[in-house]
Amino acid sequence: MKKSPGPTIPPARILGIESSCDETAAAVIENGRVLQSSVVASQIDLHAQYGGVFPEVASRQHVKSIYAIVEQSLSGAHLALGELDAIAVTRGPGLAGSLVVGLNMAKGLALGSGLPLVGVNHLEGHIYSAWVYPAGDPEPPEPVFPLLALLVSGGHSELVLIPEHLKYQRLGGTLDDAAGEAFDKVARLIGLPYPGGPSIQKAAEGGNPRAFNFPRARLDGSWDFSFSGLKTAVLRTVRQYEEEKKHLPVEDLAASFQAAVVDALFTKTIKAAQQYAVRQILVAGGVSANRALREAFLSQSEFPVHIPRLSLCTDNAAMIASAGYFRFISGQRDGADIDALPTWPLS
Ligand code: KG4
Ligand code: ZN
Repeated sequence: MKKSPGPTIPPARILGIESSCDETAAAVIENGRVLQSSVVASQIDLHAQYGGVFPEVASRQHVKSIYAIVEQSLSGAHLALGELDAIAVTRGPGLAGSLVVGLNMAKGLALGSGLPLVGVNHLEGHIYSAWVYPAGDPEPPEPVFPLLALLVSGGHSELVLIPEHLKYQRLGGTLDDAAGEAFDKVARLIGLPYPGGPSIQKAAEGGNPRAFNFPRARLDGSWDFSFSGLKTAVLRTVRQYEEEKKHLPVEDLAASFQAAVVDALFTKTIKAAQQYAVRQILVAGGVSANRALREAFLSQSEFPVHIPRLSLCTDNAAMIASAGYFRFISGQRDGADIDALPTWPLS
């Protein structure tokens, strides 16, 4: 008797569209993993003057750039719309005025081409960024379930148990500031430019992570995080230096703050991975671009760790197309009435 082949992955090419915050992005992914093209138009320069994202400015800028960004991603993949299998789009969480720009673009394209529309949760997208690799590269191993994901972005710090594709159990999350938000706020406190994550990382390179012993909220007995105490400790230190008219040791403050965040995130994630006996850990979201965090996980974790390549840590559409692929092959199809609302449990 002939041995039947194992389950094969249905081939499909997905166009992803992302506009949840201040990046307008489009990408084409084949079979959930192979990146054919990815275009990201960042609005950082526009928002830097306000010290953070200005929602009204963000949505207007998405309207201006989205058409060209989608065109560029298709031409970069050398594909016409008709050669694709579906269109995936971020449905939330995010800024409503920004989300609707991507959603309406995706709906228009789906209606015009007859392609199926698949709505994707932005955080689920971050998770799937760990599956993506550029066309032409050797295929890296896939993350193995059950997985524990640490999702750390500008709006979220979540610990999520993932027993299989598209199944999520939220274990905990931040009680106050998200990790990225803490980076952004502390950067502002110590006089560094927006976005705070990259500025703090850069300043920290010249600083001593042990110069200040900032608090790490342990919140024993829960899988939650809290960064407000840490932020207040930095604020108090800054005020003290100002009162004493002493020069602010920006690099030491940045390094000590970053060490406290990394320590809190790493320690709790490893503890949860042990307790839930997962096979692997996945770290994703904008803060996963942080070098100190990456180093901690890649060198000190007893579990194999997947972290997206740097270009896929912050918001992009490749991750949306990848998550969209797994939703598409699971049979998900959305109508033109899809709203800019996130889906539980990743909201
Ligand atoms: O995932 P993301 O691009 O957008 C959201 O979904 O929020 O994350 C943006 C966040 C910002 O708070 C930014 O400061 C932070 O990610 N970030 C970093 C680094 N690069 C970006 N935080 C720490 N270190 C970095 N290198
Ligand atoms: Zn994000």
